[in-house]
Amino acid sequence: MEDSRIAMPIGTALDRFIKSRQEAFAFATGELSQLLRDIALSGKVVNRDINRAGLINLAGVTGTQNTGGEDQKELDILANIRFSRALTKGGEVCAIISEEEEEIIEVNNNSSYIIAIDPLDGSSNIDVNVSIGTIFSIYRRISEVGTPVTEADVLQPGKNQVAAGYILYGSSTMLVFTTGMGVNGFTYDPTLGEYFLSHTNMQIPDGGKIYSVNEGSYHSFTDGVKNYIEDCRDNGFSGRYIGSLVADFHRNLLKGGIYIYPSTAANPTGKLRLVYECNTLAFIAEQAGGLATDGVNRIMDIIPTDIHQRAPFFIGSKEMVERAKEMIG
Ligand code: AHG
Ligand code: MN
Ligand code: MN
Repeated sequence: MEDSRIAMPIGTALDRFIKSRQEAFAFATGELSQLLRDIALSGKVVNRDINRAGLINLAGVTGTQNTGGEDQKELDILANIRFSRALTKGGEVCAIISEEEEEIIEVNNNSSYIIAIDPLDGSSNIDVNVSIGTIFSIYRRISEVGTPVTEADVLQPGKNQVAAGYILYGSSTMLVFTTGMGVNGFTYDPTLGEYFLSHTNMQIPDGGKIYSVNEGSYHSFTDGVKNYIEDCRDNGFSGRYIGSLVADFHRNLLKGGIYIYPSTAANPTGKLRLVYECNTLAFIAEQAGGLATDGVNRIMDIIPTDIHQRAPFFIGSKEMVERAKEMIG
């Protein structure tokens, strides 16, 4: 088997990269490769929608709420349609879990993969022209192909992920993903309509000087979390908080830092979703040499009991996440 950590040259097109790595995937049937292509393609479509949102009246609210009671934006709904349509038609997926859908979408019993997706992350930033993203996790089903999807299939712990990634719609659009053999980042060239390898074998610095947390909720943090934030301040670290998890995580991945969304009065079990936000980024962080916990436990060891459950989240540079755990535990 090829060692996929051997860097491919910068500028390699995504399709070529996926093809050359196919044999290194856990199950080299080509289905996972195709699934990644479907996601990348849907990302291009959503990227186009986002770029035109202000012009074609897509930036507003719909007046409806999602599974967590949060206001849905036009683009939340549209992104959900774009991704679920591509994933449904692609034929590689047996079930989809989406932030925007209360129930599991059962697709094709003859397919092997389950996908969990936050179609649009950071939706409060849509109408103010700030970076947003898409987050996805891919699991292999446990039950036999050809039978209906089971609860055990969709409630797998994060450590079972076969691939995970995000698309960041930022000053440039990037696709960052892992199949369990390191993390690679691709930058989208809108003039060519193609993603190109721009960040090979990404590694998060062990230590960092950035902490990212919504300090507006400071008063409802536990003493342990408050102490850790004090510790960051005492060390002269910079506070940076965009309010789009993908964008905050991406910056910290490149520069070193910690992102924290602890339990608060408004969100006693944290705000972020275990299955399609925390686990996804946890897999990427660990593959990049970082860590992700709920303050105490490794995120990817938690067995979900609900597809939409939330978890407190501490993710980023190893030394920072360990220090936070020490002060909280
Ligand atoms: P989503 O837009 O998918 O609902 O996610 C929003 C999340 C996450 O992106 C962000 O980090 C966090 O909510 C911000 O929450 P606060 O506004 O409470 O800080
Ligand atoms: Mn989100
Ligand atoms: Mn979302």
